[in-house]
Amino acid sequence: MSPSILLTDDDREMRYALSETLSRCGYTIDTASSGDEAVSKFSSKSFDMVISDIRMVHGDGMHVLREIKKHSPDTPIVLITAYGTIDNAVDAMKLGAFDYIIKPFSIESLEEVVKKGIDTALDSKKPATDGKRPVSEFISNDSKVLRLLNTAKQIALSDVTVLIEGESGTGKEMLAKFIHNKSHRADGPFVAINCAAIPDGLLESELFGYERGAFTGAINKRSGKFVLASSGTILLDEVGEMSLPLQAKLLRVLQERHVDTIGGREPVFINIRVIATTNKSLKKEVEDGRFREDLYYRLNVFPMTLPPLRERKGDIPLLVDYFLKKHQQGERRGNKMTVTKVSEDAVAALLNHEWKGNIRELENVVERAILMVDGDTLLAGHIMIEVRGSGQKTPATLAAGLSVHEMEKALILKTLEEVDWNRTKAAKLLNIGVRTLRNKLKEYREDGLFI
Ligand SMILES: Nc1ncnc2c1ncn2[C@@H]1O[C@H](COP(=O)(O)OP(=O)(O)OP(=O)(O)O)[C@@H](O)[C@H]1O
Ligand SMILES: [Mg+2]
Repeated sequence: MSPSILLTDDDREMRYALSETLSRCGYTIDTASSGDEAVSKFSSKSFDMVISDIRMVHGDGMHVLREIKKHSPDTPIVLITAYGTIDNAVDAMKLGAFDYIIKPFSIESLEEVVKKGIDTALDSKKPATDGKRPVSEFISNDSKVLRLLNTAKQIALSDVTVLIEGESGTGKEMLAKFIHNKSHRADGPFVAINCAAIPDGLLESELFGYERGAFTGAINKRSGKFVLASSGTILLDEVGEMSLPLQAKLLRVLQERHVDTIGGREPVFINIRVIATTNKSLKKEVEDGRFREDLYYRLNVFPMTLPPLRERKGDIPLLVDYFLKKHQQGERRGNKMTVTKVSEDAVAALLNHEWKGNIRELENVVERAILMVDGDTLLAGHIMIEVRGSGQKTPATLAAGLSVHEMEKALILKTLEEVDWNRTKAAKLLNIGVRTLRNKLKEYREDGLFI
């Protein structure tokens, strides 16, 4: 049976374009035209994956995310966002969204994220995840990060508990996988659980599992993540979000290396390596009484901190090159030229940005910029980010080198973003007819952009 996807967007055209494309890729698509409808569809039928627009009138994407995560924490949810609501997207990641895509996006990037999501969904249905997935390259030339990687390699060989701190999008999960893959557990499972995304009661049963009949609704026995991670590594993502009672239970697992399945009689002994991540300071959480001190010391056996991207700007050009290659392999750009160069002012614009969403945000910006380029060089004008303090987004700077076609496209998309994709308002600002605007968008769509 082909994997099933629930697609939610209140824009009819977008819904149609997306479901056409994804059906052609071999997925079974069901659609909803509001968040409320999506939540209600999901409660009566199961899907392998959910894709939802963030901004919708009746039940927005965040609502969809929260509601679905409550009942089905393993279902990957991808949110579609406009650049203006990128902060929402970052929050969504913290709540356990699988990923987000920024409008406009290409068929290829859509396919890639959907494929990743479906793979993850199907994996999580297997008794244990495959620990041998290839490690993506950890790109950095920053001395702090390189030292960190070196240490990571060394401590990977022991079973020591690792606490990875760092802002959203700095690569915490990547580092955790790196450690797993360099360890003697590399052939075992790598099981991740996002403590922020799952409501408390459910988190407990996800972690510990339950016996048949342990509570109403426990129709079948279910193994917890600790047991599923046996002989491998468990990643407790956003551990700082765990409730105090659950923290007490986690402490017991770490101390005694066994778990008490809910409703089970005997403790089950487990052989796992624990890695935890947090995007806030756990020390501060302890000081404020929200995190148990004894658990903090148990987890903090080996602390590692990933610096935010703004503190390792030297990595930006390196990462840009890496993401350029990653996102335009082979036929990716249709019959367009491959982007191989980045102009100096483009680099300057990237260096000048704050990168609140860190490396994940940089990757998105590069991926998007590629879509704008007609030639082989990425210019400042192709990059759509807010220049700090100016309140303006590049390509506000009129830099020579852009073709009129590129400039027009950038201006139209930027205007649409600023008016939240209200076409009537955008047409007015651009001083063109709504019809003309619609035709332009159609043209871009035919070029392979989802807008
Ligand atoms: N050093 C790096 N080299 C290449 N890609 C990276 C690097 N660091 C992060 N990435 C990419 O950036 C994205 C975010 O990384 P990751 O999920 O590991 O971050 P995170 O710190 O766990 O974020 P969050 O707090 O939002 O969960 C991923 O797509 C990852 O592949
Ligand atoms: Mg993470």
